[in-house]
Amino acid sequence: MNDQLPTAFDQALAAAVRAPSPHNTQPWRFVVDGDAVEVWLDRDRVLAVADPAAREARVSCGAAVLNLVITLRVNGLGARVRILPGAALPDLLAVIGLDGTRRSTEQDRGLAEAVHRRHTNRRPFADRAVPAVARARLKSAALSEGGQLEFLDASGRYPKVAALVRRAESLQAEDPAFRAESAFWTGRAAESPDGVPTVAFGPRYEIPGVVCHRASHTNPAVPSRAFEQDPLLAVVLTRDHGAAADVRAGMVMQRVLLTATAEGLAASFLSQPLEVHGIREQFLELFRGLGQVHALLRIGYGHATRMTARRPAAEVTAQRAEPDVPAV
Ligand SMILES: Cc1cc2nc3c(=O)[nH]c(=O)nc-3n(C[C@H](O)[C@H](O)[C@H](O)COP(=O)(O)O)c2cc1C
Repeated sequence: MNDQLPTAFDQALAAAVRAPSPHNTQPWRFVVDGDAVEVWLDRDRVLAVADPAAREARVSCGAAVLNLVITLRVNGLGARVRILPGAALPDLLAVIGLDGTRRSTEQDRGLAEAVHRRHTNRRPFADRAVPAVARARLKSAALSEGGQLEFLDASGRYPKVAALVRRAESLQAEDPAFRAESAFWTGRAAESPDGVPTVAFGPRYEIPGVVCHRASHTNPAVPSRAFEQDPLLAVVLTRDHGAAADVRAGMVMQRVLLTATAEGLAASFLSQPLEVHGIREQFLELFRGLGQVHALLRIGYGHATRMTARRPAAEVTAQRAEPDVPAV
């Protein structure tokens, strides 16, 4: 291992844990093995009700992988990602190995810096259209990680998607198990190292036709302002589906989110239609032919809100012990 590696790995792991995850569950563990980092799914942190197949958890780990790779790059280190989940070790999601030195680009540096500013913004966005050039950058961010970003306004799918978001949300609100899980992970104090703090919620809203944050993510103390009347929604897609595609999708989604941050854009998630059995199938059907949808995002111009805390990287990272050298 060269002398700079521990520092570069520390920075990369500190970046990895800044990834988004449902309810800020942080369902990851990292194992440093010489000059490689393994990314493992932490089953104890998978949402049993909202995410029984651990799909969102794997997407989150994929986002952590991208943060890691970008941060290694700005330290001059090339990284090779092997996406792995297989039958033998389904929870070993990826291994990031060093791949020589690499001169970082201005874009790499912009994204690496965005890792530490990106956050979910559940507040109203301005009624200001996202220009074509910014949309093109978000789309090419998705393409460069092997995925796709599809905006909904152009496709005529918007009203159907909005209806499915609302239907899924009302079904979840009627489900005591979902409510209990959500209550456990949200409404926390600002400094809580995991879960969603109340300060990250959005204001109350009473606009029946508009989709914004979940009603359960409402903080009446946030001054109420009108939500944008015509939110820009976008879906993150991959060609394939399955566990490896979930991890890949997380990398795609994170590059989109970091590019949005670098462009001065805010984003939030609307995962309700992906989480409710019966609605999920109808939602996926809307995009049949394009690929597998992994995330539904709302994107626009907002005022920066509070960052949420994370468990420190050291708490979720282990070093693989050197194998014992047999005595001679
Ligand atoms: C796969 C996935 C699904 C998510 N779904 C939602 C959602 O439906 N509603 C929401 O408000 N936030 C959602 N989030 C955002 C998380 O709550 C957020 O990432 C987490 O609380 C950490 O906060 P941060 O993104 O501000 O760092 C989702 C995040 C991920 C990665």
